[in-house]
Amino acid sequence: MRDVKVSLVGYGIVGHGVVDALSRKKAMLRDMGLNLRLVSVTDHTGTVLAEDGVDASKILGERTLENVATSGMKGKEAISAIDSELVIEVTPTNIVHGQPGLGHMEAALSSGKHVVTSNKGPLVVSYSHLKKLAEDNGVMLKFEATVGGTMPLISLVERTLVGNCISGIQGIFNGTCNYILTRMTEEGIPYTHALSEAQDLGIAEADPSYDVEGVDTAGKVVILANSLFNMDVKYSDVDVTGITGVTPEALALAQRKGYAIKLIGDVPALTVRPTLVPLGSPIAVSGTLNSAAIYTDLSGTITVTGLGAGSIETASAILTDVISIYRTKKIDAIF
Ligand SMILES: NC(=O)c1ccc[n+]([C@@H]2O[C@H](COP(=O)([O-])OP(=O)(O)OC[C@H]3O[C@@H](n4cnc5c(N)ncnc54)[C@H](OP(=O)(O)O)[C@@H]3O)[C@@H](O)[C@H]2O)c1
Repeated sequence: MRDVKVSLVGYGIVGHGVVDALSRKKAMLRDMGLNLRLVSVTDHTGTVLAEDGVDASKILGERTLENVATSGMKGKEAISAIDSELVIEVTPTNIVHGQPGLGHMEAALSSGKHVVTSNKGPLVVSYSHLKKLAEDNGVMLKFEATVGGTMPLISLVERTLVGNCISGIQGIFNGTCNYILTRMTEEGIPYTHALSEAQDLGIAEADPSYDVEGVDTAGKVVILANSLFNMDVKYSDVDVTGITGVTPEALALAQRKGYAIKLIGDVPALTVRPTLVPLGSPIAVSGTLNSAAIYTDLSGTITVTGLGAGSIETASAILTDVISIYRTKKIDAIF
């Protein structure tokens, strides 16, 4: 049995999902020969420490750790001081400076800890630096959940399609935009009505600009470009147009001609823009779904679709990354 001490940093929507998923899958993981022991959970208020593993039932009902923290340690201090070999980093995204996640990842990688994350910001700002830090310290940096949430894309390209050359990836990488465009098409309602409906349902933030102006999708395009296409690009290299200018009339006209209008991110074109997609296309998914078409030389076009967000769904992608670190090690050992 491989015993792995895990630290979790960030205890919001995804952090709760991670605690829940690790607890629910404990027996299945043990059957695989992996005893994942969550020895710490840290948020902005402090840390819950438990050498034998944090009891999920004691913290899942708490929105923050304020009332249950057993240590005042936070952020980088907690990452460096706590004895663990893998850090799951799920703090808020900032794609301008990458903090606080960037500092957390640097602290973890430089002290020889694997990092698994759903946090786009540090990767958008500093992918090559973080990748080098991981390599220099002989550890792994995994980030499937940063693009398309639970939809498998990065691991699909890196592992399953490894014998192919990938000429491009086009997809819907933002569920909020896709929901708004879907509702505008279905009901013929203007953008502002669909947006307030999405806000009422909790699908859009009170300040939706990060999603609807294409910033979030562009961040994902940067991550795909740098990690899968070996490019070295920044957010400012992406040509971005969001969905705020899309009208119900344009959507209706497109539909009459056999098309949907979707916010499409394109790599390596480095564009994010409302794009005509044939109605029968497998990437023309509706509602909050994400999708991606992967253009390959040997396998033709491979299309994936799935939920781009959600607590347990995003945690599922994180769990897959965690398991893959130990599976990879096994394969490396064989070869
Ligand atoms: N939600 C999703 O479905 C989803 C899907 C894919 C990717 N992501 C990404 O995953 C990350 C987490 O998302 P989320 O929805 O869980 O966000 P969230 O609900 O805002 O949670 C973030 C957590 O990090 C905590 N935090 C903030 N600063 C911290 C610091 N310096 N040290 C330790 N903890 C700190 C926050 O505490 P306070 O809130 O009290 O400040 C909160 O507990 C984000 O980067 C997001 O973009 C989310």
